[in-house]
Amino acid sequence: MTDAVKKLHIKTYGCQMNVYDSERMAEAMGAKGYALTDDPAEADMVLLNTCHIREKAAEKVYSDLGRLRPLKDAKPDLKIGVAGCVAQAEGEEIMRRMPLVDLVVGSQAYHHLPKMVEAVERGERPVDIEFPVEDKFEHLPERPMAARPTAFLTVQEGCDKFCAFCVVPYTRGAEVSRPVERILGEAQKLVAKGVKEITLLGQNVNGYHGAGPEGVWGLGRLVRALAEIPGLERIRYTTSHPNDMTDDLIAAHGEEPKLMPYLHLPVQSGSDRILKLMNRKHTAEAYLRLVERIRAARPDILLSSDFISGFPGETEQDHRDTLALIAAVGYGSAFSFKYSPRPGTPAADRSGVDAETADRRLQELQALISRQQHATQEAMVGREVSVLFEKPGRLPGQWIGKSDYLHSVFVAAEGPRQGDLVRVRITSSAQNSLAGELL
Ligand code: SAH
Ligand code: SF4
Ligand code: F3S
Repeated sequence: MTDAVKKLHIKTYGCQMNVYDSERMAEAMGAKGYALTDDPAEADMVLLNTCHIREKAAEKVYSDLGRLRPLKDAKPDLKIGVAGCVAQAEGEEIMRRMPLVDLVVGSQAYHHLPKMVEAVERGERPVDIEFPVEDKFEHLPERPMAARPTAFLTVQEGCDKFCAFCVVPYTRGAEVSRPVERILGEAQKLVAKGVKEITLLGQNVNGYHGAGPEGVWGLGRLVRALAEIPGLERIRYTTSHPNDMTDDLIAAHGEEPKLMPYLHLPVQSGSDRILKLMNRKHTAEAYLRLVERIRAARPDILLSSDFISGFPGETEQDHRDTLALIAAVGYGSAFSFKYSPRPGTPAADRSGVDAETADRRLQELQALISRQQHATQEAMVGREVSVLFEKPGRLPGQWIGKSDYLHSVFVAAEGPRQGDLVRVRITSSAQNSLAGELL
């Protein structure tokens, strides 16, 4: 009773949570007889899993849809779907502006996708951007994934923080944590398929408060329970809010060797005035004290962050405060973005910093961050790290993997080595990667 195999092409924009969601949608469509293809030209269905975080990201969806026009003209049966955060935010508008789109599925409705495709087959143009009461994860099929060493696992979704610039509380909805047993079960299945490293995902992952045996569990307790799964060697989590770093989670960084020494802890700005205007609910000083406590628990931890330049009201002094905070922390890496006003967010109507100034400040942030990245990479040279091989490099006899500190490391190693966890001595540092030799 299996259908002839149809081909599905998924393009994923935005954050790791979208990467995870794309995988789950591929699995749901796999159960309907769709196999994945990298080539949109041979696809029977193209799904864009979109991001709304900045204007550029959102606009890209419309230009990519325009580029699908000739494919649809050549193959009128081609189904085109829009998923993710732009779908959630602008579903009806997409349908109006883009007649070639057959379905729009919001970020919480992916378990409805197979049914929606059937509706398209009946000639409908379904839109589902509700925040349903049921949990999409529990209504998605079992994960029949291919063997590979690393995987994402979403444990928490949504955000109740309402930073003044951010669309996530609107596109992903309120904070929801998955139950402990579900997460442990999914992790065990991933490990049984060969996964050695799991990255726990959530828009505010450290705000995790899932129902578990004996009441509600925080992320620290969840990490410790996951660490007991034999064969799971590495645990990471992202993205964290400074106000949700609990004592227990910080302690886990010192006590649990499987918890990797790398933490993405976005601060956004180093100016208390701007942090207040951003509704971040913490000061620069509180963040610096938090960093001290984390480093006391795990002295070698590498930190990263996100920064926004040119937030409405940002003065030269505020910008210098951000540079000072970066200098005080010393990041292993960090992302910085020019502020982009997003419709519906509290900051959208405030008048911004002029583009030239915001660009210049962004460049100054990036220059300082890149010097710090360079310095932390150089400091790795001569050190021993563990590397989990993920894929062969471009040169013969070369493998690429990630170190404990999330650096990409190139290593000379013969044979099929995917999934090997090896000890490596770092021998040199390049732009965005390290090279090392097997010990
Ligand atoms: N939940 C995470 C990440 C949210 S989005 C957190 O709280 O940190 C990822 C990053 O995009 C944010 O950290 C922020 O730096 C950036 N960002 C969000 N909205 C933005 C906007 N309107 N303009 C520019 N950057 C933005
Ligand atoms: Fe957005 Fe702030 Fe929530 Fe992060 S904490 S997702 S930046 S609203
Ligand atoms: Fe983008 Fe949505 Fe992630 S807006 S960053 S895809 S949560």
